[in-house]
Amino acid sequence: MPNHSFILNGEPVTVEAPDDLPLLWVLRDIMGLTGPKYGCGIANCGACTCLLDGNTAILTCSFPVSEAAGHRVTSIEGLAQGDVLHPVQEAWIEEDVAQCGYCQPGQIMTAVALLAKKSQPSDADIDGIQNICRCGTYYRIRAAIKNAAARTG
Ligand code: FES
Ligand code: FES
Repeated sequence: MPNHSFILNGEPVTVEAPDDLPLLWVLRDIMGLTGPKYGCGIANCGACTCLLDGNTAILTCSFPVSEAAGHRVTSIEGLAQGDVLHPVQEAWIEEDVAQCGYCQPGQIMTAVALLAKKSQPSDADIDGIQNICRCGTYYRIRAAIKNAAARTG
């Protein structure tokens, strides 16, 4: 099987896996991470969202590991800098967003990617987020994104 080398949460890693193995399986089953979640498996729900090269949201359930080669991949586990939470994580806590929590790593990573592209996102920008939350935390997600924008903008 081919090897794939990339940077995962700041550390170089090499995994042996089929080219088309979804990155989510690599992260969870080979690397032992639990933050990126399996939801739909068909690029619809966003539970598996991670970042590519620090600012682009990718749906890892539908992203072949071969395409991660040579890139930086960040999961929720790699978002904080040591004990210092990312401003989006701080905002999430302040707005008490999470309910069951299952979708939340993906929601946070999607919010980080949105804010990387647009430091002061509009309601329409936030409406464009496709991540599903079965607990219906959308209002608090919106508040947290605005909170994070105020912190960083
Ligand atoms: S599990 Fe990847 S988008 Fe739903
Ligand atoms: S907090 Fe439960 S699915 Fe979003």
